Amino acid sequence: GRALVVAIDGPSGSGKSTISRRLATELDLAYLDTGAMYRAATWWCLRRGVDLTDVDGVAAVVRQMPLVMVTDPAAPRVVCDDVDITEAIRASELSAVVSRVATNLDVRAELGRLQREIIAAEAGRNGIVAEGRDITTVVAPDADVRLLLIADETARLARRAKELHGTADEATVARTRDEVVRRDADDSTVSTFMTAADGVVTVDSSAYGVEETFEAVLSVVEAAR
Ligand code: C5P
Repeated sequence: GRALVVAIDGPSGSGKSTISRRLATELDLAYLDTGAMYRAATWWCLRRGVDLTDVDGVAAVVRQMPLVMVTDPAAPRVVCDDVDITEAIRASELSAVVSRVATNLDVRAELGRLQREIIAAEAGRNGIVAEGRDITTVVAPDADVRLLLIADETARLARRAKELHGTADEATVARTRDEVVRRDADDSTVSTFMTAADGVVTVDSSAYGVEETFEAVLSVVEAAR
């Protein structure tokens, strides 16, 4: 059939990366993590030594970023300036400042353009699952399937604590709260990723495990095919 474009948005800890990758793998689609592109832009700015508060300087540097997104869901990679930065962009020092780059409107325009290019290219092949904060609304509002994956704060913090620190005990969750809640607050100055736009299907995974969440998402996608 026709190549499928699936857009999935959600806050951190909603499970959107795990679910998006799995969906892409199972349906044999490409996979694009747009958050990784904002992280890559931040890595590139830090490498180039640009002051992150210099709005025009940051935008100019990001426009020259030699970024390659490898969209294989079995092994997604991020390569910048011939360096594989897939792991480096997950560092907590980088997570702490990514919102500064992501709230730069010129950066959003540039990365949005790159994202549309990648999505269009993959739509011309097998199709794609693209995930982020503004994919259902800004980047791919005409995607075949648009989903907002949400979870309450307790569930999101427990998942992030496990992901980042390997455990979800009380102290670890408290530490994670600072990172996650502040970043979500910073990010929400530019995108409203906690409420679904018109035509976007919400899946609340608060009470679900990965398996149940995946089944819920898959049934929405199957219904749209
Ligand atoms: O999803 P992840 O936590 O890796 O995203 C990293 C950052 O990238 C977010 O905190 C946000 O600042 C930014 N982002 C964005 N728009 C997207 C995806 C991510 O602003 N579509």
